[in-house]
Amino acid sequence: MRPDAWPLVGRAAAIEATSTALGEGPPQSLVIVGGAGVGRTRMAREALTWAERHGRATLWAAATAPAAHVPLGALAHLIPTLEEAADPLVLLKRATQAVVEAGPAPVLGVDDVHLLDRLSITLLHQLAATGEVSLVLTVRTGDGVPDPAAPLWKDGFATRVDLWPLGRAETEQLVSTVLDGDVETRPPSASGGWPGATRSTCGRSSRKGAGRAVSPPRRACGGGKGR
Ligand SMILES: Nc1ncnc2c1ncn2[C@@H]1O[C@H](COP(=O)(O)OP(=O)(O)O)[C@@H](O)[C@H]1O
Ligand SMILES: [Mg+2]
Repeated sequence: MRPDAWPLVGRAAAIEATSTALGEGPPQSLVIVGGAGVGRTRMAREALTWAERHGRATLWAAATAPAAHVPLGALAHLIPTLEEAADPLVLLKRATQAVVEAGPAPVLGVDDVHLLDRLSITLLHQLAATGEVSLVLTVRTGDGVPDPAAPLWKDGFATRVDLWPLGRAETEQLVSTVLDGDVETRPPSASGGWPGATRSTCGRSSRKGAGRAVSPPRRACGGGKGR
């Protein structure tokens, strides 16, 4: 998986949870929970990169609202070609088999599981129950969004990792690293420490230092509020 060019800042507890869940021993799963822009997708991708480095096969899917109109829509690329439309139970069986057989100790990352259709949620629960696959799931909190992964962490199939906005020192470190230290930041309390807000005000380019070329001016970097 291609790494993000922005350095990962903070998240020591999440990294620790990742190495515990995806390290030695029977496969375990992670559910990464937090508000929009806090860094759920980033942390999930870091977890899969970690797993790849440790010899595990990885698969990735991202849920979207349109894909939820089709059963297993966001996960369709994981299922081998079917000769004809299969019934949901056949789809579930084929998808489970495809993931389990994806390679050594497979890890399936699924972003934004609160957007998945019901059959996809069923598939994730069945995969967790096989004990042969690790799941790395992200869920957005807030707006009364139900957490379809809750049964996994409540029933002990997964470790729940809550992400909160970065602290002041971490936000300063992030802005300073990205802009080579040549920046006058607003107090990080202005951005609330949301990495997504920091990124949009510092520029979306992935190259270190590229934030210099964008507006708003550098002194505003770190401002704004997470979505
Ligand atoms: N701990 C972090 N260190 C550096 N950059 C981060 C961190 N967390 C998130 N980001 C960056 O902030 C942006 C928003 O993060 P993202 O993972 O997309 O948020 P979410 O999925 O929670 O909405 C992305 O560009 C991501 O790479
Ligand atoms: Mg995301």
